[in-house]
Amino acid sequence: MTKPSVLVTRAVFPEVIDRLAQYFDVDDNQPDVALDGAALKARLAGKAGVLANAADRIDAGLVAGLPALRAVCNMAVGYNNLDVPALTAAGIVATNTPDVLTETTADFGWALLMATARRVTESEHWLRAGKWERWSYDMFLGMDLYRSTLGILGMGRIGQALARRAAGFGMSVLYHNRSRLPEDTERVLNARYVSKAELLAQSDHLLLVLPYSAQSHHSIGAAELAQMKPSATLVNLARGGVVDDAALARALREGRIFAAGLDVFEAEPQVHPDLLTVPNVVLTPHIASASEKTRRAMADLAADNLIAALGVGPQAGQPPSVINPEVMARRR
Ligand code: GLV
Repeated sequence: MTKPSVLVTRAVFPEVIDRLAQYFDVDDNQPDVALDGAALKARLAGKAGVLANAADRIDAGLVAGLPALRAVCNMAVGYNNLDVPALTAAGIVATNTPDVLTETTADFGWALLMATARRVTESEHWLRAGKWERWSYDMFLGMDLYRSTLGILGMGRIGQALARRAAGFGMSVLYHNRSRLPEDTERVLNARYVSKAELLAQSDHLLLVLPYSAQSHHSIGAAELAQMKPSATLVNLARGGVVDDAALARALREGRIFAAGLDVFEAEPQVHPDLLTVPNVVLTPHIASASEKTRRAMADLAADNLIAALGVGPQAGQPPSVINPEVMARRR
């Protein structure tokens, strides 16, 4: 029997390709060449499934004319790159990689928060530039985390993991979310639900971990930045587009907030040029989930999803993390 064909859009751990090859005829991209638009569509022709990356835009236009395609498996928890209603309408299962990256991403959120509040990268650049001639009492004064107020916008799995870490720093935790958490969970996390306006006004440090969608586009723009404390820091771990990068660069330059830490950008891998010239921002290249162990776990979970969604392997027909379960249900 011929094996179904699948595409892996980006380079990935070779062991994952080997595992997929037990079930599929694998078209890999280990040289990691860019596959955009037409190139991606051409490579998807005749494929039953695809192991995709958060930067691969998979929408109605792309899947039209790909009748063999039955599974799109993202190696990311966020899936704003997928047009899920279009995939559902076309009978294509969509999956993501939740849970396996929660703690690693929250650890990184803390790293970015501390680097931002305590000016770690800014002072390192200054030191490397040979500017350190003597110590002085007001060198790189930052903002404390200890006993400050932490705000979290988007209280899903990663938001909750961040809130748990705040306990060790004696912080008060405020959050805003589409829906309020059950009281028990709030109690365990020691987190208080507030309006978005209150979150903006009260937070000493504001962490963004909400999913990107048309509704969350520019959740933080000039108007929201104006409501924050001038001493506040802002950290974006979510997606570019949740923040208006141009407005943020202006606010940072004018000292309307103290500093920001950004792991995601509106036009990544391009970074807004104004962000590159303000000193009070820490910039990292979308690496919040990038620990060796977690990236392997994400790749393994994406592969598990692909194998199961295409009806083979030990979990045949039951992919572990399906975004549109109604498609799987229709197949039964
Ligand atoms: C990374 O940004 C992810 O969504 O997993």
